[in-house]
Amino acid sequence: MINFNSRLYSFIMFKKIKSLQASFVLAGLALVTACQPDHKQPQGTTTEPLTSKDMHTYARPDAVIKHLSLDLSVDFVVKQLSGTATYDIEVKENADSIYFDTRNLEIGKIYVDDQDTPYQLGADQEFLGAPLSIPVNQHSKKITIHYATSPTGAEALQWLEPSQTAGKQQPYLFTQGEAILTRTWIPIQDSPGIRFTYDAKISVPSQLMAVMSATNPQTKTADGVYTFKMQQPIPAYLIALAVGDLEFRSLGTRTGVYSEPSEVDKAAYELVDMQKMVETAESLYGPYQWERYDVIVLPPSFPFGGMENPRLTFATPTILAGDRSLVSLVAHELAHSWSGNLVTNATWNDFWLNEGFTVYFEMRIMEALYGKSYSDMLESLGWQSLQSTLKELKPEETHLYLDLHGKNPDDGMNDIAYEKGALFLKTLEQVAGRQKFDAFLRKYFDEHKFQSMTTAGFLDYLDKELIKPNNLNVNVDAWVYSPGLPPDVQPPVSERFIKVDEQVKNFLAGGKASTLTVKEWSTHEWLHFLLALPDSLPTAQMQDLDKTFNLTNSHNSEIQEAWYKLAIMQGYGKSILPAIHNFLVHVGRRKFLTPLYTAMIDKGMKTEAQSIYHDARPNYHSVAYNTIDKLFAEPK
Ligand code: BES
Ligand code: ZN
Repeated sequence: MINFNSRLYSFIMFKKIKSLQASFVLAGLALVTACQPDHKQPQGTTTEPLTSKDMHTYARPDAVIKHLSLDLSVDFVVKQLSGTATYDIEVKENADSIYFDTRNLEIGKIYVDDQDTPYQLGADQEFLGAPLSIPVNQHSKKITIHYATSPTGAEALQWLEPSQTAGKQQPYLFTQGEAILTRTWIPIQDSPGIRFTYDAKISVPSQLMAVMSATNPQTKTADGVYTFKMQQPIPAYLIALAVGDLEFRSLGTRTGVYSEPSEVDKAAYELVDMQKMVETAESLYGPYQWERYDVIVLPPSFPFGGMENPRLTFATPTILAGDRSLVSLVAHELAHSWSGNLVTNATWNDFWLNEGFTVYFEMRIMEALYGKSYSDMLESLGWQSLQSTLKELKPEETHLYLDLHGKNPDDGMNDIAYEKGALFLKTLEQVAGRQKFDAFLRKYFDEHKFQSMTTAGFLDYLDKELIKPNNLNVNVDAWVYSPGLPPDVQPPVSERFIKVDEQVKNFLAGGKASTLTVKEWSTHEWLHFLLALPDSLPTAQMQDLDKTFNLTNSHNSEIQEAWYKLAIMQGYGKSILPAIHNFLVHVGRRKFLTPLYTAMIDKGMKTEAQSIYHDARPNYHSVAYNTIDKLFAEPK
C-alpha cells in the first residue's frame, strides 16, 4: 500500500499511470528543446546547471511579464471570472513573440500597446494547457488580454454553494495556484522562476468580501468592488483570491484572521500566537518582507492544510481543534514567507528548496515558542512519516532533486521534499553548529531575496559560504542526488513519546484502556500512540479504546484521521462507518482523504468507499478529486 502518513499525500503512483506518462514525456522533451535555450553554467559540487529550465511552462526567458493588472468580475451564477489582464512586458532584442500559459481559458481580443493583435493558441496538452503566443518586438511594452474562465475547467477555482459554507447563506469562491493551476484562471507565465508585481480590481456581489495575496480590505465595501496591490515581485503560483461572507479579526499590529462570521472568533482564539510567531521567525532569519501577515480560514473543502499565499495564508478549518494544538501549520505557512516566497524554487524539480527549508524553519519556530520537547514530538512524527514514505517509493523517487519530466508536478510532491529536505538541513545545522548555520541561512535569504534558486545554485552557495570555510564534512550528493537516507542519520528522540511507548507496551500486553494515563497527552502524543498500534489489534481492544476515549467522535481532525485509518486497517471500520462517512463528506483536505479511501479500497470496503465518495465528491476541490478518482480507477 502507498504511504499515507505523508504531509501532503500527493499522488505517488507513477507506476500506475505509466501509459499516460509516455506521451507527457515526449511532449515535455519537445517543449524544452523548442522553447528553452540551454543555459549551462559553471558547476559547483553538483551535477546540474545553475540555472535550469522549467519544463512546466511555455514561457521563454526572452520575453517576460514584469507587472500584471487584473480587472475581473466574479459571477457566481455562471461560475465564471471574466474581464481583462494587462501586463507590462520586457522583450529582449531577438524575441518576436511572448508566450503565456493558459488552460481551459476563453481568450478574446488581445491588444499589444493598444493595437488589436492576432495571436495563436496552440494545442492543449494534458495538465500543461495550451501555449498562447502573441507577436511582439523589443519595443513592445504592454499587452491586454480579454478573457473568461471556464465554468467547469478552471481547476484552480472552487465554487461553493451556500450549503458548503459555515453560514449556509452565501456562496464562496477560492483559488489554489500551486503548482501549475494559476493558468486555469489567468493567462500567465506560470513558472516559479518568473516574478512580477500585480494589482487587481475585483467586482463581487456586494454582500461578499474579496481578499487576495496582496494588500487587503478589513471591511466590506458598499459596492462589492475591491482593489489590491502586491508590490513585491512574486511568481504566478502565489496569486490567490477568495470571495465569501468574510469578517476580519485583528490579532496584533501586523496580523489578523479572516473567516466566515460564525467561525472567526474560534479562528482568532486558535491563532492567538500568530504575531509572536512572526516575531520569532524574524529573530531567526531576518525581517519579514511582506508587511502584514494574515490568515484566512477557508471552508472545509480546501484541499490542503495550508497554502502560503503571500500576506495571506490560506488555511483549512481542520486546524481549529479548539486547543491550539495544530498551529504548527501556521508556523509552516509563515516560514514560507522566507523559504518559498522570498527565495523560490526555480522549477518544481527544486521543490525541496521550498518545502524542506520550510519544515526545518517550522520546527525552529515551534521550538522557540513552545520548547524543545514540543518540537521533538513534531520531528519524530515527521521521521515516522518519512520512514513509511521511503518504504513505499521506488529508490529513484527518493532523491531530493526531482526529475519531473513528463509528469504533473503535483504527482511528484511528497514527503521526501518535506521530511528528507528538513533532515538534510538539520544535519547541516548539527555539523556546522546552530550559530553558524543560522547566520548562513539568514545571509542566504537576504542575498537571494525576491529571486529564484536552483538546487545546484543552493549547493554552490552552501559550499562557498558554509562547507569550505568551516572545513565541514557533509556528503551533499548522498542527500540530494541519491536515494534514501545516508546511513549515519539518527532518528530524532522525543522524551514525551518514549513515555507514550511505555503505555503502548502495557496496552498491548493486555492492559485496559482505562489504565492508560492520557491526562497530559497532547494531540501529538495521541497521534504517536495510534501510529504505534499494530495492524493486528483485536476488535475488543479497539472497542475498549473507543468506549474509553470516544475516539470515533473526536473533534480533532488529525486524531479522527489516524483513528479512522487504524479502524479500517483493523476491520473495525464498518462499525464506525457513519462517522467515517460524515468526516469524508465534510472535509476535503487531501491529506486526510487519500489514506482513508485507500485503506478502505485495500481492506475490502471498496463498495462502502464508493458510496461515500459518491456523496462526498461534489464537495471536493479538483486537486482532491483528481487524486481520489485515480484511486478508484486503479486495478486492484
Ligand atoms: N505549499 C504547500 C502546499 C502545496 C504544495 C500545494 C504543493 C500545492 C502543491 C504548503 O505549504 C504545505 O506544505 N501544506 C501542508 C501543511 C504543512 C504543515 C506541511 C498541507 O497542506 O498539508
Ligand atoms: Zn509548505
